[in-house]
Amino acid sequence: MTALPLNPHLPLGDQRTAPWYGKDILSVRQFTHDDLKFLFGVAHEMRVMVERVGTFDLLKGKILASLFYEPSTRTSSSFTAAMERLGGSVIPISEVKYSSVSKGESLPDTVRSLECYADVIVLRHPEIGSAALAAKYARKPIINAGDGVGEHPTQALLDLFTILEELGKVDGLTITMLGDLKYGRTVHSLSRLLSLYNVKLNFVSPDILKMPADILEELQAKGVPFSQHTTLDAVLPETDVLYVTRVQKERFENPEIYEAHKNTYVINPGVMRPAKEKMIVMHPLPRVTEIGIEFDEDPRAAYFRQMEYGLYVRMALLALVLGKA
Ligand code: NCD
Repeated sequence: MTALPLNPHLPLGDQRTAPWYGKDILSVRQFTHDDLKFLFGVAHEMRVMVERVGTFDLLKGKILASLFYEPSTRTSSSFTAAMERLGGSVIPISEVKYSSVSKGESLPDTVRSLECYADVIVLRHPEIGSAALAAKYARKPIINAGDGVGEHPTQALLDLFTILEELGKVDGLTITMLGDLKYGRTVHSLSRLLSLYNVKLNFVSPDILKMPADILEELQAKGVPFSQHTTLDAVLPETDVLYVTRVQKERFENPEIYEAHKNTYVINPGVMRPAKEKMIVMHPLPRVTEIGIEFDEDPRAAYFRQMEYGLYVRMALLALVLGKA
C-alpha cells in the first residue's frame, strides 16, 4: 500500500512537512499503517486538549462546508462540533431540497460553488463513487462521509481509534461483524482498514446480507483470516470486538425482504452471557432493534463512547487536511 499521493496543487515543500495537507479522504484504502499511527496520535492529543480547554483556535478563520444528501445525526454534528472546537466555522447544507440541488444542479457544480466559500467539504451522498467524483472537480479537500453502500472512511477510522483506546491494541484481536454486511458501508471500510493489522475476522449475517465478494477477495489477497456464519453462537465466546450493524432499510428495493430480516439478531444481556468479560460491543448507530436498551448499562457496551472518539478523530482529520497539525 502506498502512502497518501502527492497533491499537484500544492508546493512540494508543504507536502513534505504536512503530508495530509490538501488531501482528499475518500477511501480507507489510501492509508498505510504509519498514517494511522500518526492520525491516532493527533486524535489522542485532540482528546487531551478538549478535556483540558474545551475549545481552541487551531482552525480559526477556516470554513467547512457540510453537504449531506442523506440523513445524518452523528457524522454531521460531530464534524460541526470538531470544526467549532478548533475555532473554525461551518456552512451546513443538510436539507439539499432547499438548496440548488432541487433545481437540478449537478454534484460537480455544487461542489465547485461551495469551495468558493469553504476550505474543506464533507460530503455524504447516496451513490457509490460520489466522493471521488466530487474530488475530481474540487480544488479543496473532499472528505467522504458515506457514499451510498460504498465506504464510510471516517467512521472506520473512529472505529479503529475506539478499539485502540478501549482495548489498548488491535493486533491479535478477533473481531466479529454482525448484521447487514452487504449494505452497511461502515463494515466495508472497517474490514479494509483492519486488513492492515494482524486480526481474525468473523462475518455473521443472513445469507442475503453477506459481505460483498470484492471485499472478501481483498481480504484473501492480503492473507487476513476470516470466516462467514449465519449465527453468532459459535463465534461469540472468542470475540474481542462485536461490531453490530443496523439492517439498512433504505437500501432494500423490496420492503418485505427488509421486514423478514430486520430482527434476525438482537443483542441483549442473555445473548451476551457466553461472551468474554473483557471485550467491547460497538455500533456505528443509529440502532433500531439490534441492540436492546437493557444492554446499555453493561460496561462492555462501547457504542456511546465510540461517538465521543469520533469527535477527536474528526478534529484530527480536519486539522491535518488543513495543514495545521
Ligand atoms: C452509519 C452510516 O450512515 O453508514 N451511521 C453513521 O454514520 N454513524 C450507519 C447506519 O446508518 O446504520
